Amino acid sequence: MDKIIILDFGSQYTQLIARRVRECGVYSEILPFNVDLDNIRRAHPKGIILSGGPASVLERGAPICNIGIFSLNIPILGICYGLQLIAFLLGGKVETGASQEYGSTILRVIKKFPIFDGIKGETRVWMSHGDRLIMPPPGFDILAKSPSSPIAAIGNKKKNIYGLQFHPEVVHTEGGKNIIKNFLKICNCKFDWSMGSFIEWILPKLQREIRGQKVICALSGGVDSAVTAMLLHRAIGNRLYTIFIDNGLLRAGEPEAVIDLFKRKFQFNFHHIDASRIFLSRLTGIVDPEEKRKIIGNLFIEILEKEAKKIGDIKFLAQGTLYPDVIESVSFKGPSATIKSHHNVGGLPEQLPFKLIEPLRELFKDEVRKLAKELGLPESIVKRQPFPGPGLAIRIIGEVTEERLRVLRKAERIVTEEIERVGLLDKVWQAFPVLIPIKTVGIMGDRRTYEHVIALRVVESVDGMTADFSRLPYKVLAAISNRITGEIRGINRVVYDITSKPPGTIEWE
Ligand code: XMP
Repeated sequence: MDKIIILDFGSQYTQLIARRVRECGVYSEILPFNVDLDNIRRAHPKGIILSGGPASVLERGAPICNIGIFSLNIPILGICYGLQLIAFLLGGKVETGASQEYGSTILRVIKKFPIFDGIKGETRVWMSHGDRLIMPPPGFDILAKSPSSPIAAIGNKKKNIYGLQFHPEVVHTEGGKNIIKNFLKICNCKFDWSMGSFIEWILPKLQREIRGQKVICALSGGVDSAVTAMLLHRAIGNRLYTIFIDNGLLRAGEPEAVIDLFKRKFQFNFHHIDASRIFLSRLTGIVDPEEKRKIIGNLFIEILEKEAKKIGDIKFLAQGTLYPDVIESVSFKGPSATIKSHHNVGGLPEQLPFKLIEPLRELFKDEVRKLAKELGLPESIVKRQPFPGPGLAIRIIGEVTEERLRVLRKAERIVTEEIERVGLLDKVWQAFPVLIPIKTVGIMGDRRTYEHVIALRVVESVDGMTADFSRLPYKVLAAISNRITGEIRGINRVVYDITSKPPGTIEWE
């Protein structure tokens, strides 16, 4: 299997590079920028990509890779910081940008090296840099320029080393994927990687990591934890203990579906704990979203630990953390600020008595869905929309009560049914109601009503990191509104959320 190594200099986009390479059908692995040259040699990569990063090569202490990579006779592609590093290490000249360049700009290709095969002479690209290159290293040609970068791409055809000031991995770069594919062709890669090969690769890796120990994995009913459990089950069989903690914050019918699938159908080592009462009682009087998340996260771990003790000798906890969870929850080397403490990552207490196993940590949601299909999970799980760990608690603004949960579950069912009826449920990223317990005046029959509001949140997104509200047909909106106000006591108004992310987030809390 051909492999590309990506050296990570801390860019938010590093994982996107890995993803684009995999989308082209080539396996890729991310390593820290300062990895040993021997490790790179042992991996036998067909090519190396140097990622972007927030630093400046001109700063003291800037991240620098082993210069020996340039003597390995392997094609190298530097992106943004990666380009500047190539120039800096091989004798070019970088200066701190007088005018920084962020966002979309037009690239003019001036020399058609193979890296630009099939790319238009003038093409839109995405820039995000402070420093810029003002002199290429000896032996390199200038391949392209942009209004603020007189040298926006360089190449050394003999040595197969290329550098791009812009980001081909982001969707805003027209033909970006084509440029990455051109690099993979320069590397002589076979394009035969698939999710099936991911399974073949991850299973022995998990076995090596776990070494005959026991693992617990909490199932939530979502695709991420289901895929995590399936992979582990394949890797270690019944040394995997799956735990389903019903926190009472799930949607109608969900607990039954989880039990049915994993206990009855797959016959996993399955432990079911109904903890809905205790979750609800700990949430009494709590209105702050982050406090809700912490309470739910802590209680979840408390129960899990208790259960693990009962089983005995558990060393590992497997979690379905995905890449967007990682970068939104912790600052990922770069300057990305914490936005919400996601249950999967940030909501966990610092001191865990388990080592974490996160086999999906480098994947995006759509890749996990492909994996789910490959592993034989049913459509209902493969296509299931993301559902937050703290569940309905963060879809009830303010205090969570049994009555509010009852109302929200009914609204949830109506929203799902109506969107499914017109075949749009698979097309949207998430569709759900939010209960806003403020009262507004309405009229029903001849009577004045004074009741709560449901907000409808339906968004389209590729990875949950950015999103836009769905342009649902009016007739669907009308059907949802009529049914919610007609069928649910306590709700007399429905509003549609027309905020994109950013500036809004997908969930209201
Ligand atoms: P936001 O609201 O941050 O949501 O735009 C992005 C994606 O993450 C999900 N989400 C969560 N998932 N625990 C989770 O496991 C959480 O606390 C949490 N908050 C948001 C959200 O449903 C969306 O898919």
